[in-house]
Parts: sequence; C-alpha cells; structure tokens
Amino acid sequence: MKTVLTESAQQAAEFIRRGGVAAFPTETVYGLGANVFDAAAIAKIFAAKERPADNPLIAHVANFIQIELLTDEITQIAQKLIAAFFPAPLTIVLRKSASVPLIATGGLDTIGIRMPQHDLAREFIKICNTPLVAPSANLSGKPSPTTWQAVYEDLDGRIDCILQAEQTRVGLESTVVDCTGDAPIILRTGAVTLEDLQRVAPHTKLADAHSAEIKRSPGTRYKHYAPRARVALIQLFNPINVAQNSAFIGLNEPPSEFELKKVCSSVEEYAHELFAFFRECDRQQIKTIYCEITTEKKIGSALMDRLQRAAD
Ligand code: TXA
Ligand code: MG
Repeated sequence: MKTVLTESAQQAAEFIRRGGVAAFPTETVYGLGANVFDAAAIAKIFAAKERPADNPLIAHVANFIQIELLTDEITQIAQKLIAAFFPAPLTIVLRKSASVPLIATGGLDTIGIRMPQHDLAREFIKICNTPLVAPSANLSGKPSPTTWQAVYEDLDGRIDCILQAEQTRVGLESTVVDCTGDAPIILRTGAVTLEDLQRVAPHTKLADAHSAEIKRSPGTRYKHYAPRARVALIQLFNPINVAQNSAFIGLNEPPSEFELKKVCSSVEEYAHELFAFFRECDRQQIKTIYCEITTEKKIGSALMDRLQRAAD
C-alpha cells in the first residue's frame, strides 16, 4: 500500500471516510486513526501496528456532543473532569455504548475517551464527522511517535495516510483515568497530573500496580516505549563508567563524554524530547542510553514512569 503524506485534513479525512486508517498529530503523540464505528477499519489498525488484540484503543472526539455517541453513562465524576479539563491530554474511561464495536475496546465493556487540545486534531476529527479510535502511531513496542517522520519510519506502506504537522508539544501519552466508579483512578500518568485532578476530584488516586483496575488496562501490561538500546537510569552525582556507543539525556551537563548527548533546560523539554531521542539513538546504533533521574513534579512523574518502563 502507498502511504500518502499530506498537510490537508480534508485529504486525510477522505481515507477515513473510505474505511482506511490515517495517522494524525495530537498534542501528546501522533495517533493512528480509524472510524470508531467501523470494525473492519479498526482491524487495519491492529494489523498495521502488530498490536495485541486485547489492548484497547482510545476514542478521540472533536466536541462534547460526540462523547454521547460513545457512552450512555457519563458518571458525575467524569462530568466534573470533562468540564474542568477537556480539551486536554487526558483520557477518561467510561462504560461503552452498545454501538461501539468490541474490537475497539479489546473486548472490554468500557472505552477511553479523549478530546485532544491540538487544533488540527480536532479539525480533522470534525471533518471525519465521527469519533476516531487512535492508538499511538508506532509499531507495537516501539517508542510513541512525536514527529510525522517517526510515524513514517514505523508504518510507511502499512497505512493509508499521514497528516503532517510539527513535532508534538507534550511528547508523552495522555493521562488515562478510570471514571466508572465514584473516585477517579489513574491508570497511566501523563501531562495532567494527580495534583491537577485532585484539585477537581479530591479522591483521585493512582492505581497500584497489582490492582484490578490495572488488570483491566491491558496496555499497561505490555513492554512499552523501549528503544533497541539498553536504557540505564542514573543520578548524575554518582560517577559513571560509560560504556562504548553510549548516549545521555537529562537536565544537567554529564561528567563524561558521550557519542550522543541531549541536555534539556526543563522537565517539560526532557519529556518533549525523550522519544525522538530514543529513536535517534537507535538510528545511530547506540548500545546504552543513560537517562538522568528527575523529580516527580509536574510532568516529571509521567516522564519517570516512561523511563522506568523503558529500563525494565
Ligand atoms: O496520548 C494518547 O493517549 C495517544 C494519542 C494518540 O491520543 N494515544 C495512545 O494510545 O497513547 P495507546 O493505544 O498507545 O495507549 C492507550 C492506553 C493503553 O495503556 C490502554 O490499555 C489504555 O490506554 N486504555 C484504553 N482504553 C482503555 C479502557 N477501556 N480501559 C482501561 N484502559 C484503557
Ligand atoms: Mg501506544
């Protein structure tokens, strides 16, 4: 299949209308979209990414009306979070309506719903005239794509179209919050933090690793975000014996020489650059990537989560 590159949301939407799959930018990472009500199109997403069939997809909406196409049960707590945050890098899990095919949710009776902040993303969904399921637009197991070139690297020839835009602003995937019960439970950390959510819903908590909620979020079971290179987490004040073909990313100038180095000026920039840096290291056949440990403030907790998963 030929993968069409375009900056036109109209042209990309044409592929969705015809039952195809198209990658598009969001403020977190690029997503691979299909019509949420088209089971055959959704099957193409799983095939293109080589994604396990039990890993549920997030449905993306352009406006509040589209949320009601996906669920009949917007809990009170979900209403509060939606009103306070949407559009945002935040995914809210609710009971799915009967019209959403089970292939979209990996067989679950719940669905993750997100209204992206990225203007072009919402415009694209609006033109498609349907919510779009969209996992990150990478091959399963690889780091999520923060540039259209990263999508191209993984999925050229496997998908119909890439809607091209700038590198994504946040660089890490959305916060996923289960809102089916009384208190929101964070299944995946992201740019909307525990503290942000607690300001609106004080009982919000992080799912613990062995909880029933995490078991219901199959994506969290799979190895994620990993480059081919080995990832080692370091604290800079410890001396490091640097192996050959090594790279460094962090917030402070490292004490040793590296083949490839990125010193970021804020935790936001570190998050923004991480996945692109992982991919650059793989292209340059780096063997070990040293990543500086950082504080868990603001997006730092999501960043540390991704670093720990990559290092496992
Ligand atoms: O920022 C993002 O969320 C990006 C952009 C494209 O929006 N999308 C993304 O999708 O990261 P994906 O498929 O790579 O990750 C979805 C995560 C997985 O960990 C999955 O298990 C969880 O969300 N998830 C989706 N639906 C769920 C559900 N119904 N219940 C529990 N967890 C769910
Ligand atoms: Mg993903």
